[in-house]
Amino acid sequence: MNGFSAALFKYLVVLFLCCRLSQVVHSSSIKNTEKIKEIETTKQLVFAKPHDAVHTHENPWYEHQPIFREKDTQSWSYSNTEAWPFLFPTCAGDRQSPVNIETILLKDYSKFYFGNYGGINRMVVTNNGHTVLFSLPLSYSPESVPYITGGGLPDRYNFFQFHFHWGSDSSQGSEHRIDSNSYPAELHLVHYNTKYGSFANATNYDDGLAVLGILITVGKSSRSAFRTVVDQLSKVENDGDETTMEKPISLNELLPSRITSFFRYSGSLTTPNCEQSVVWTVFDNPIVVLEDQLSVFRNLKGKGGLILVNNFRPTQPLERRVITYRSHTGCNVYRNWLLFPPRIKDVYQYCICRLLHLFM
Ligand SMILES: *[C@@H]1O[C@H](CO)[C@@H](O)[C@H](O)[C@H]1NC(C)=O
Ligand SMILES: [Zn+2]
Repeated sequence: MNGFSAALFKYLVVLFLCCRLSQVVHSSSIKNTEKIKEIETTKQLVFAKPHDAVHTHENPWYEHQPIFREKDTQSWSYSNTEAWPFLFPTCAGDRQSPVNIETILLKDYSKFYFGNYGGINRMVVTNNGHTVLFSLPLSYSPESVPYITGGGLPDRYNFFQFHFHWGSDSSQGSEHRIDSNSYPAELHLVHYNTKYGSFANATNYDDGLAVLGILITVGKSSRSAFRTVVDQLSKVENDGDETTMEKPISLNELLPSRITSFFRYSGSLTTPNCEQSVVWTVFDNPIVVLEDQLSVFRNLKGKGGLILVNNFRPTQPLERRVITYRSHTGCNVYRNWLLFPPRIKDVYQYCICRLLHLFM
């Protein structure tokens, strides 16, 4: 072995060891964090079972916001999702949501920053016949409004409301699917880009809204914030019911335990008018709730007094869109070292990234 290859050999050994070390430290830190669940890939594809069509005057979910009252509000329901494109032309667009998440492109987005996510002391809870909606009171002090930045978002997005989609049983309910798998429910945290001044104005722009999609799975425990949510439901059993929640609620607690990995794509609101103004984030790590808690959702009543279940839109064609993914470490360079000979530059880049990840 000549001097050069010996040096190269030593260099590679050191590099390999450092990578192994960072990987070992990293994976043990994952194992220590409870509740981290990988994506299940065994469920079967299920579709919404359409119930009888409801022909009543219906309002979009944001109707209770005064700013929307004058908007066109034709009838729509989850039993006629195929009719939406005819009633609301934007619903026929080529960037519609939700989608089935299958192929992804790795991307090194930064981490999210969640501002004022710790506690909201008052929320308005509304049953609008399509979902149950938790929104900030109009009088909420602007400097305390929760917001998000980072995570690849171009701007600061203020929190506006959160709501849920759920199924008649736990085999269905989520709007987004991962590898064609449905989850029992899905939580949407809706934010608008502060540069557009209001939620209503933001719906006119491609980067107007940022919605965090959180998949909900059934398990043996749940967060206290979710209990707080479920406790409100008995007060808004019927379409049009509204109550003020006096108990504080922490949005942080509604987030999955791992928020560093997520899917990203550009799409739309999943209810008419299906505005194509949403930068979607879907976390691959679900939150866990009790089956009994989902039963409480399934007892709510919607339009026409019918039981409010299966309030999810079927997945829409991806068309020309690409779904990107931030992995937990954010280190998204070439990784199948054993299968394909990597380029030194890639290995080096990956190592540096993993090492930096250890200290940040
Ligand atoms: C909507 O946002 C644009 C871009 O920031 C701004 O110029 C416009 O004045 C806003 N419109 C309203 C009604 O707030
Ligand atoms: Zn939604």
